[in-house]
Amino acid sequence: MEKKTLAKDAWGSRLGLILAMAGNAVGLGNFLRFPVQAVQNGGGAFIIPYLVCFLVMGIPLLFIEWSSGRFGGKYGNHSTPFILDTMGKGSLWKYIGVFGIFTNIAVVAYYTYIETWSLSYVLHTMLGTFEGMSQTQVAQFFDSYISIGSNSTGIPYEPVIFYVLVLALNVYILSKGLGGIEKAAKIGMPLLILFGIILAVKALTLGESGRSIEFPDASAWDGLNFLWTPQFDSLLNPKVWFAAAGQIFFTLSVGMGTIQCYASYLRANDDVALNAVSAGFMNEFVEVVLGSSIVIPIAAGFLGLDWVLENAGFGMAFQTMPFLFQQWGTTMAMFSGVFWFGLLFFAGITSSLAMGTPWMGFMKDEFGWGMKRGAWSFGLLALIMGLPTVFYYHLGVFDEYDYWGGTVSLVLFALLESVLFSWIFGINRGWQEITDGADIKVPNVFKFIIKYVTPFLLLLVFIGALVTPQGNDWTTNINNLLSGQGWELDNGSIIRKLSLYELKSQLTEAKSATDRDLIEDKVFYANFARIQLVVLFLFITMLVHIANIKRTKLLAK
Ligand code: ALA
Repeated sequence: MEKKTLAKDAWGSRLGLILAMAGNAVGLGNFLRFPVQAVQNGGGAFIIPYLVCFLVMGIPLLFIEWSSGRFGGKYGNHSTPFILDTMGKGSLWKYIGVFGIFTNIAVVAYYTYIETWSLSYVLHTMLGTFEGMSQTQVAQFFDSYISIGSNSTGIPYEPVIFYVLVLALNVYILSKGLGGIEKAAKIGMPLLILFGIILAVKALTLGESGRSIEFPDASAWDGLNFLWTPQFDSLLNPKVWFAAAGQIFFTLSVGMGTIQCYASYLRANDDVALNAVSAGFMNEFVEVVLGSSIVIPIAAGFLGLDWVLENAGFGMAFQTMPFLFQQWGTTMAMFSGVFWFGLLFFAGITSSLAMGTPWMGFMKDEFGWGMKRGAWSFGLLALIMGLPTVFYYHLGVFDEYDYWGGTVSLVLFALLESVLFSWIFGINRGWQEITDGADIKVPNVFKFIIKYVTPFLLLLVFIGALVTPQGNDWTTNINNLLSGQGWELDNGSIIRKLSLYELKSQLTEAKSATDRDLIEDKVFYANFARIQLVVLFLFITMLVHIANIKRTKLLAK
């Protein structure tokens, strides 16, 4: 791509585009979600399925989404409802395309909240809040923070104020258009990689010196060995495959609608193949090399691998890292804290910015809204959706959004778009779109993979998630089914999640009135979050419907 002026609706340079796309992909998922998924799924047992999923689902979906986006852009469409509409037959596809706007608003609502934690942890590190705190005190600080407690800077409602500020910063950058996003990526990505390399080198050279008094036998190497010793038996375990596929979706930001939107600002003859692969591999470098080299080895070094295995979770980095950094002395703790939480903040913001663009692109295409109006209206929607996650985090609103918006919707949308691309738009036209203007020769085997393997695996993943068997134990459950004993669903299956099965069983087993009240509150807020999500989906569907009527009238003239 030649250098263009920083027009509001075109990428300024190829480097800017790749950094923005990589920034879209590289996010909190790389540093917080990946290590946890890897640990929870057996370390080395996870890596092979993960890499296979990257090759047979991740890369093909990147090709599909980049080329669909550029295709849509040729017709002046910058968001999935009308990109899909141009590619498919019948009126249904534009409504399926609603997912490509909906998911972003649902995800940004809670994603920005983690950005908020990161930014305020940078501040707290600089203020010395964590100095002298024990592991338990650091964990308590986090618990109090997320329950909007009072033991932080003394600023009342600190998480809420920070949340609004972080959202406003996102909106401000978005209101500058693609140029603003490119600038943020050009600053954020190199800093993130620099901070990541410094911390990874520190973690990798920690060796046995990382031992703490409480865990004299622990070593940073335990964490690394656990992650990097391949275990081939995992290849037969569907649970590990589902987790690996889920991580690939989340980390590459496929199935969200952001890639199509970014790619729709390419020109008709710009390359998509090399761009897609470059951004995808940059994400994998950051995830596999840097993402696995920081939290796990450091935590395993100080707290022991067993502790890590028991406590792995999304908040782990906030509950442990400030304490672990303290073990390196005050100055080093300050730098490491700023690097680590700064890195998380940059990783987060370059992804959340991308989530604003499909809405803005849609409102501009269909209703002529400018950048400012688009950005501020996005901010308002994110705020309405997001405030309940801030206020009721501990009652599960955050988890509901993450599950329905950040997990199920991605797989469902990716499945539908891959069917559209290969079977309705047609693989021959699709292949043409991928290879036109390509700066690399895309191996022909990908044509086969995109047509058969990717949709089939996506279908498997979706069905697997829908009816996950008890304990995720497929072998026993399949045998039970064959011997007529039925199929026992797991509480994590979509079907059971839908009916709030787990919470309702907890309610019947609650031992005290306090427990019962808490569970009742959780049921209430889970339903509340779902209503918010449904209303959001219907609202966007209505806008698509209105836009379609406008288009039809325009055509009739
Ligand atoms: N792809 C983004 C991440 O990894 C959403 O966090």
